[in-house]
Amino acid sequence: MEKGRIIIVEDEQSILGMLGELLTAKGYSVDPFLDGKSALVALKNNAYHLLITDIMMPKVDGLQLLSFIQKEYLSTLGIVITGYGSLETAISAMRCGAFDYLLKPFKFEDVLSSVESAMQYSRLLTGDSIPKKITSKANLLRRFSENRMVRENTLLRNFLKDKYKFENIIGVSFGMQKVFELIEKVADTNATILITGESGVGKELVARALHFNSSRRDKPLVVVNCGAIPETLLESELFGYEKGAFTGATSTRLGRFELADGGTIFLDEIGDMNFNLQVKLLRAIQEKAFERVGGTKTIDVDLRIMAATNRNLEDLVREGKFREDLYYRLNVVPIHMPPLRERKQDIPVLFAHFLERSNALNNASVDGFSEDTMEVLMEYDYPGNVRELQNLVERLVVLKKSGFIGIEDLPEKFYGQQKQDNTRLDLHRGYDTLVSEFEQNLILKALNETNGVKSKAAQILSMNRTTLIEKMKRLGIAE
Ligand SMILES: Nc1ncnc2c1ncn2[C@@H]1O[C@H](COP(=O)(O)OP(=O)(O)OP(=O)(O)O)[C@@H](O)[C@H]1O
Ligand SMILES: [Mg+2]
Repeated sequence: MEKGRIIIVEDEQSILGMLGELLTAKGYSVDPFLDGKSALVALKNNAYHLLITDIMMPKVDGLQLLSFIQKEYLSTLGIVITGYGSLETAISAMRCGAFDYLLKPFKFEDVLSSVESAMQYSRLLTGDSIPKKITSKANLLRRFSENRMVRENTLLRNFLKDKYKFENIIGVSFGMQKVFELIEKVADTNATILITGESGVGKELVARALHFNSSRRDKPLVVVNCGAIPETLLESELFGYEKGAFTGATSTRLGRFELADGGTIFLDEIGDMNFNLQVKLLRAIQEKAFERVGGTKTIDVDLRIMAATNRNLEDLVREGKFREDLYYRLNVVPIHMPPLRERKQDIPVLFAHFLERSNALNNASVDGFSEDTMEVLMEYDYPGNVRELQNLVERLVVLKKSGFIGIEDLPEKFYGQQKQDNTRLDLHRGYDTLVSEFEQNLILKALNETNGVKSKAAQILSMNRTTLIEKMKRLGIAE
């Protein structure tokens, strides 16, 4: 039995030849083409398990070939070759249903592992036969549901492997790319960093990435939550105290500044710090020296300072609640983390990342999410930012355990948004048209869930099978 039929389209002769030889040697039957136009003719006349195609080609390009197989074949998968690891290209490929993508120059083992997993998946869909042409709408629908979801999730996971990740900080948005660049630039310096942004945007995550990418990484990172420690205790927490400094000080104790010696101190929620203590902090930062409470000896430390806040420090300075001199001391390198609602492109990758983690933590195997679910998730504004999304995914995984997450699995606040959308329907299109569309969607969704089995779909909708068939006929849904 042949291992599988592959069509390769690539306008660089050397790459085409190399791929052809590699895959032929592995037992695949390969048809190579130097241009998209003749490949399209071949695709019209022959069925393949796999299309491997370059994206940029004159006349007929890779995305057109992908759209073609997507429309015509039930289980032919596409892998795109791209010399530009740009998000735009990868996203267009994803929209056209690419299973995976290969970044030039590629390694043989990457090509093989991608081809093998695509081939495995194609076989799952076809059994051992050659991919079939799509003949009915129901098939098309099926193809657009699971297959597409699996492919998108695979592509998302690939994203996470390379460019769009710094440590475990995920982000494809322009805003996050800027943050990554800054982190890389300033991590291994001694510059004081001020990280700002709403609650849950990832400020602490960035502080950790900075520390662990600096030469201080083997020394301590000491975190002080200035908002959580009572005012009266904060000074001795930061600077320590001498034995007998106050009642109960039965022995000398080191403060966080001393504990962080050689490493980094991260002053979290700095905007909440008491005004009087700010003076002492300013001096400690300026001189990297301080005295323990109740002590006279000046202690020198070598440390790097990072601070974070979800408050607007400039406003606090104007209101006289935050010292201006301290603000300038801290604001040497500002890193602002945009709220999630201003970088919604990050939602799918974050979702995929949290899904993988929650699956592992909860011993679950949720495969992904349907396309319409992602649309709804992207509409939402996330006042709790990334933390809220993370908690949502965790909850969905725990409740769902396996399979795909659909709109109906989301909490009610998401439905609420959908309902609002419905009221924005264009009423001028007429009552009958709108109701028919709604009916059609319900039926397609039910058929989709049951892989086209009408009796089961009718059951889901609490409808007679014959009524369902009648409605399908009336609404023009192919059987
Ligand atoms: N870009 C990201 N990629 C992956 N995980 C993220 C990202 N941003 C935030 N998280 C996760 O979201 C949660 C909240 O992040 P973090 O604690 O760093 O936020 P914060 O800005 O410090 O929030 P707060 O102001 O409430 O302290 C953490 O569990 C963190 O791991
Ligand atoms: Mg925090």
